[in-house]
Amino acid sequence: MRRRNVALLLALLGMLVSACGGAAESGTTAKELSYTLSTGLVDGKMAFIGVGGDIDGTLNPTLRASVGDTVTVTLTSGEGAQHDIAFPDFGAASEPVSGQGNSTIVSFVVDKGGTFPYYCVVAGHRQAGMEGNFEVTGEPAAPAGAAPDAEPAAVAATAPSEPAVRPADAAAEAADIVRDPADLPAPLGEREPQTVRIDLETVEVDGQLAGGTTYTYWTFNRQVPGPFLRVKLGDTLEVHLKNSTSSTMTHSVDFHAVTGPGGGATMTQTPPGQETMFTAKAINPGLFVYHCATPMVADHIANGMYGLILVEPPEGLPPVDREFYVMQGELYTGGAFGEKGHQLPDVEKLLGEEAEYFVFNGAVGALTEQKPLNANVGETVRIYFGVGGPNFTSSFHVIGEIFDRVYDFASLTSEPLADVQTTMVPTGGATVVEFAVEVPGRYILVDHSLSRLERGLAGFLIVGGDEHASIFAGSPTSGSGH
Ligand code: CU
Ligand code: CU
Ligand code: CU
Repeated sequence: MRRRNVALLLALLGMLVSACGGAAESGTTAKELSYTLSTGLVDGKMAFIGVGGDIDGTLNPTLRASVGDTVTVTLTSGEGAQHDIAFPDFGAASEPVSGQGNSTIVSFVVDKGGTFPYYCVVAGHRQAGMEGNFEVTGEPAAPAGAAPDAEPAAVAATAPSEPAVRPADAAAEAADIVRDPADLPAPLGEREPQTVRIDLETVEVDGQLAGGTTYTYWTFNRQVPGPFLRVKLGDTLEVHLKNSTSSTMTHSVDFHAVTGPGGGATMTQTPPGQETMFTAKAINPGLFVYHCATPMVADHIANGMYGLILVEPPEGLPPVDREFYVMQGELYTGGAFGEKGHQLPDVEKLLGEEAEYFVFNGAVGALTEQKPLNANVGETVRIYFGVGGPNFTSSFHVIGEIFDRVYDFASLTSEPLADVQTTMVPTGGATVVEFAVEVPGRYILVDHSLSRLERGLAGFLIVGGDEHASIFAGSPTSGSGH
């Protein structure tokens, strides 16, 4: 639908092609100028790339015109991700374009002189580098107070500014993106190193963020966090990253468990509908974060693109009765916490680190009402806990429990700490905690920066079984604390 007029407009453009890539000439005659730009990732940044004429190959080239000219810009998606181009000072913006080689066009009459920005309006792209200058010779804009011009001079495709929320009825079809905390592979047992194939698919999913509130998550394998991966020290990872044809973005993966530039991200920048592959040997044991590393990386992580990979030491970890997989992250939505409807990402809030939501396993209520952790009295529990972030460190705590062992910073080769109440987990970091459950009841997983509890961050560990009056006894009174 968005490309409906492109063929027609391209034909039209053919007539204008003599002006292609040309700089504005001085003089009083209004001209028709056309520029062609492509898009791409260059040195880890997103950019517009000039095509043809003086701007050929230039990143974010300065485009020039004179007052009175009509400027037409054709934007081609070079790598296949979704982009657009806007000249907001002229009320002109293209429709979005995605899919390698597809184009979109914006055309407008230049009604004032000066230097103005042009940029991609897709969330995060301007900040990730997609911005250039538009220099206009001629009369500058009328000073404030002067009689305004009747109308902005856009003649094509002026995009309305997008509202912060879409109507609430979109919430009805939202997918469940919550990763069950019990969804992780069993211990590998002692075995020789081998090659392990890892298949990741990046998929953009409209998911349930909270009751009546939805959000377009960017995921590994449709859930948040991505799948828990389990390999052995010395294994060779053969990572296949497939980016869904329905994606609007390029995606990638950076494994903190991998030694090599970008942790694999340099080899896995994958446009929609394509697949990439790399191999790497796991040469350090531990529990490691993986995440998307496509600009703006903070945006991709906030949208849900993180997970954990465990590199088991040769002897494995001591056996426990229950293992769980929990990750913390935060989201930056246009609407305030609790606002209903489909929330759009807010890049200004992201850059200001003003999170609206804090979540375990992707959503408000994910590990409380929806998929709590379950255990029984007398069992031992291990939680693999990581922080995707992108920005907030966690003071991880289980209310009413004490960690018998903490593998601090998820180091499995250091001696674990004993008898810890709260452990600090950095963004892009992890921990492994172990404890026995002696008393039945409901325990609450929190980040002890407890204001985040009010913004969605809580999980339940529900322990069934018989009372142990020798450890815990009494009767509840009103006003009991946590
Ligand atoms: Cu863009
Ligand atoms: Cu991504
Ligand atoms: Cu990282």
